[in-house]
Amino acid sequence: MIDMTATHTKVVLVGDGAVGSSYAFAMMQQGIAEEFVIVDVVKDKIEGDALDLEDAEAFTAPKNVYAGTYADAKDADVVVITAGAPQKPGETRLDLVNKNLNILSTIVPPIVDAGFDGIFLVAANPVDVLTYGTWKMSGFPKNKVIGSGTSLDTARLRVALGKEFKIDPRDVNAYIMGEHGDSEFAAFDEANVAGKPVRDIAADLGINADDLDKVEDDVRNKAYEIINKKGATYYGVATSLMRITKAILRDENAVLPISASLDGEYGLNDIFIGTPAVVNANGLAKVVELPLSASEMDKMKKSADTLRKVTSDGLA
Ligand code: NAI
Ligand code: 2OP
Repeated sequence: MIDMTATHTKVVLVGDGAVGSSYAFAMMQQGIAEEFVIVDVVKDKIEGDALDLEDAEAFTAPKNVYAGTYADAKDADVVVITAGAPQKPGETRLDLVNKNLNILSTIVPPIVDAGFDGIFLVAANPVDVLTYGTWKMSGFPKNKVIGSGTSLDTARLRVALGKEFKIDPRDVNAYIMGEHGDSEFAAFDEANVAGKPVRDIAADLGINADDLDKVEDDVRNKAYEIINKKGATYYGVATSLMRITKAILRDENAVLPISASLDGEYGLNDIFIGTPAVVNANGLAKVVELPLSASEMDKMKKSADTLRKVTSDGLA
């Protein structure tokens, strides 16, 4: 657990690509960690990024940003893993599993060997499988390993509904759940704005169930759309990683959609999957089990089956 009496907070980022460097920039802008270490196999890039990011301190606040190694994880509060191949156009996240589990296996053991005792936050894809892999490879308790899960997808859903309803997305209480990937689903039956069901708000506006299904499809396919247009997605996930890191470092007990280990919730065990959860200095404090409708429960189970197959094949 992070010592909340100490003010010094340290984050190690592993993977300084499009996602990692955008996350580093978001963290610098928000001034969330005093010490920020960047690790990657491409040494010139991490040194260049550390120098570039420190220039921003003159406009934000002094922080210690530097290029480092896994040894720097020894006294870190959070290690964020964004190292891994991204999808090429036409690839699914699940197609990345073998490549990225191999990369993960070169990262997690040396971090544990360095004496790291904080929270792992995983973003590399397929994120639910890689979060499971990080837990397995680290030997850490389950609460200390979380993934970004459906955080980005939930953000996409809130933005889309916010546009439809002309309401600030931050006030839309709706979640994408399950795999961060093609089997995810929108939990519309519990979604609301200030307690008013989203389905009722939609009906008042003449938005029917088919229109909501289209919103869900568009959210599910948004990553493909962005990748087709610009080759990768990074600003959305970088901001969501910043938000999750803040919840950990500030011991917020924030309810966020993450990839969390389930212990009987939704009738599932031995899996990391997207669900709302309470996040604090211990990482996962508690899964918030939504009272899913029967059809949504079915979708959650199917999504879990998809992940289980890939996880057992990948980690066999
Ligand atoms: P990128 O190719 O721009 O960056 C990957 C970085 O990982 C590179 O800097 C590379 O040098 C580094 N790397 C590769 N092997 C390494 C190793 N063994 N040790 C340390 N560093 C290593 O890729 P990008 O776009 O940054 O994506 C990274 C990952 O994040 C991908 O798997 C992508 O699918 C995933 N992603 C996840 C999202 C989410 O919501 N969870 C959203 C967007 C991307
Ligand atoms: C995203 O959803 C590709 O996982 C990445 O943007």
